[in-house]
Amino acid sequence: MSQLNKFKRYTITSALPYANGPLHIGHLAGAYLPADIFVRYLRLMKKDVVYICGSDEHGAAITIKAKKEGTTPQAIIDKYHNQIKNSFEEFGIAFDIYHRTSSAIHHDLSQEFFLNLYEKGEFIEKYSEQYYDEDFDQFLADRYITGTCPVCSYDKAYGDQCENCGTSLNPTDLIDPISTISNKKPVLKPTKHWYLPLDKYQPWLEKWIDEKEGEWKVNVFGQCRSWLKSGLQPRSMTRDLDWGIDVPLEEAKGKKLYVWMDAPIGYISATKQWAIDKGKDWQQYWKKQANTEDDACLMHFIGKDNIVFHCIIFPAILKAHGDYILPQNVPANEFLNLEGDKLSTSRNHAVWLHEYLEEFPGKQDELRYVLTSILPETSDSEFTWKDYQARVNNELVAILGNYVNRVMILMHKYYEGKVESDGAIIELTDAKVNDELGGYYDELGKNLETYRFRAALQSVMDMARLGNRYLTEQEPWKTIKSDPAAAKIALHNSLILIGHLATCLQPFLPATATKIFGMLNVDAVTFDQEMEFANGHQLNPAALLFEKVEDEVIDIQIQKLADKKAASAVVQQPIVAPAKANITFDEFVGLDIRTGTILTAEKVAKTKKLLKLTIDTGIDQRTVVSGIAEHYEPEAIIGKQVSILVNLEPREIKGIMSQGMILMAENAEGKLSFVAPADEMPNGSVIR
Ligand code: 2FM
Ligand code: ZN
Repeated sequence: MSQLNKFKRYTITSALPYANGPLHIGHLAGAYLPADIFVRYLRLMKKDVVYICGSDEHGAAITIKAKKEGTTPQAIIDKYHNQIKNSFEEFGIAFDIYHRTSSAIHHDLSQEFFLNLYEKGEFIEKYSEQYYDEDFDQFLADRYITGTCPVCSYDKAYGDQCENCGTSLNPTDLIDPISTISNKKPVLKPTKHWYLPLDKYQPWLEKWIDEKEGEWKVNVFGQCRSWLKSGLQPRSMTRDLDWGIDVPLEEAKGKKLYVWMDAPIGYISATKQWAIDKGKDWQQYWKKQANTEDDACLMHFIGKDNIVFHCIIFPAILKAHGDYILPQNVPANEFLNLEGDKLSTSRNHAVWLHEYLEEFPGKQDELRYVLTSILPETSDSEFTWKDYQARVNNELVAILGNYVNRVMILMHKYYEGKVESDGAIIELTDAKVNDELGGYYDELGKNLETYRFRAALQSVMDMARLGNRYLTEQEPWKTIKSDPAAAKIALHNSLILIGHLATCLQPFLPATATKIFGMLNVDAVTFDQEMEFANGHQLNPAALLFEKVEDEVIDIQIQKLADKKAASAVVQQPIVAPAKANITFDEFVGLDIRTGTILTAEKVAKTKKLLKLTIDTGIDQRTVVSGIAEHYEPEAIIGKQVSILVNLEPREIKGIMSQGMILMAENAEGKLSFVAPADEMPNGSVIR
């Protein structure tokens, strides 16, 4: 195993998914399938490995979802943790533990980590101005603020990151920030937080990352270098939030740990829990050992949007602590697209794993195969249902399934499934096949150890191609009459090849490998075991491994995606403004609201938002300054009937005395519409 071989222990993690929604194929292809393949490979090599994951149950991702579903964050994480865990199990993602960051062991460890850094004086304490939503009376988590990215001008960038160009941001970097809970511009207010001075770690990080050149994937290395180049800034490790892990300081009452100070520690707390359950020592998998040669090899499998957190922020936290090992590698993947468009949870443009499991029961390996074939390893890639159909039919059915089936059927037809010969052991006797097979094993190992899982799968498929070719050349269905001994040797060699195929398929298609071992009637084989049969070995009956995917099946899926797209364009789930406190009837009666008509409209100089209007209120003609300039051209609204609050205290706006307020309806996106009577009414009509 190249340089990986030097390690005694391996700690492999996959990004903890937010428990705020179901999993889709993009998740699987990003951080879970590659890690699962790698871990299964390590286990086949008899390595000491622990594979860690769990639900990320804190942060704005959870509270935003709870608000949308009108429920509590706890209800959200309970629901999705179970659903996600089940999907992973169904797809054979072989974690040693799938844990939760809401667990007590995790809260304790995260607080311990924070205190460790705090007591060493690693944090800078400072007041800063942070965005605050006045309607909701709360500070805004970075994810609750959107605006225009200062780097690429994408207008839906989040306060912590632009998902379009990947730049890591502070909320105050955004141009025209908007609170996603009220759709209003937030205000800045001072608040105290604890910052990790990433700038202090910059020289160390630069050196550490530079050492990874050539070893880390270029996409990962390149992203790290570009962040370092733009200069690291202190990053706040605490937040003003009501959902998360309490900051363990008296003076920080009500504040929570930043989710990225908590989530990656989830890898460690999950390992702790696993060690308790299995009677192991978790520290051997995470902490520096007395002798560096005994340190474990830590690897994080993630999607590209998590690179900065795993390659810069978390290593800086680990370094600041001092007792922990650092990742050897972070083989992040790029993004998977779907049918020509970005996968999107909010637009429901996704192939959901729980739906696939219902609609394609027992066909988990088919999806594993297709996704592994198109993993976004170095650049974004694309899933289409037509491609799924083609790969299943032309590769799994025609090459792999067909080979195994032909050999098994012939063994049963000619020998009633008995593997018999003169010697005690039946082994591979064809030197040419043996050589070629050895070449594919080498390629497989090299590809897996350099995180080229697509190519690695092809190395295994090349073994199946070799088997098909060998069988076609040997023609045992002909030689069974002319040279029965040759037919038997050919079929025995083919059986051994099938055993090798099953062995190598284990990391990729675990259920299929198990089925093949079942047909061969042997236990699963690891890489250090010989593939051979004892004389007289009895095979089990042949069973089809894969079924052809018909056009109708694919058409249904394509149509389903089109329907979802159409539906999501219609159904927008606005976040409704909060209800206000009750007022008395007298207070209501005190409002003098009338119909009026706009007589003149002009822009207020040096402002973007304001129009100066003259309104015929039926009582008088008066001036009103209204913040609607971004929504209406002045000329377009002259003559429009409106509703106006006429007894609002006059006030001066930009030097103009405004007398009253025009009533507007405002939707979740901030779109405005005049409120007017359904039928034309004389100006001055009372609205009550
Ligand atoms: O981006 C995400 O989905 C995060 N929940 C990943 C967390 S990975 C880790 F650090 F735990
Ligand atoms: Zn951007």
